Amino acid sequence: MIKEDILHKYPPEIENVLLILHEFQNSNPHHYLSENDLAMIAAYLNVPYSSIYGVVSYYSMFSLMPRGWHIIRVCNSPVCQMAESNAILSKLGCHLGIDPGATTADGAFTLETSECLGQCDSAPGMSIDEQYYGNLTAKKIETILQKYQDKIRGQGE
Ligand code: FES
Repeated sequence: MIKEDILHKYPPEIENVLLILHEFQNSNPHHYLSENDLAMIAAYLNVPYSSIYGVVSYYSMFSLMPRGWHIIRVCNSPVCQMAESNAILSKLGCHLGIDPGATTADGAFTLETSECLGQCDSAPGMSIDEQYYGNLTAKKIETILQKYQDKIRGQGE
């Protein structure tokens, strides 16, 4: 969907800024917001560029830098931490060969931490793009990652 179409889905009111930012970011294959995106949104909502920049800077789910095709977010809020989410994060980092905050060299995955994903009853949890995965174990994350890696390989053939 082109960006003008995203904007015109919403009345030009500041209450819609998060929905618009999400759609802009999701429409970009590298899952980030460019300066031009922020300027377009500011003009549409008739607010200063700095207001939009402030919102994007405040929320960790938004990025101003290009990221991987798939965004892995491991919850590091207290319930998940008590369920050893740090071990899950380390395992993912080892498997992908990157530290949290980084993107794999092939551009396939970005690994991040996140505040509560709202699924505390299945801690520890993570999301990949819009999909949530809970009750994670080392074995389970290998299976999940393999599924995404197979899908990427299949697209390359
Ligand atoms: S604390 Fe991790 S999903 Fe809520």
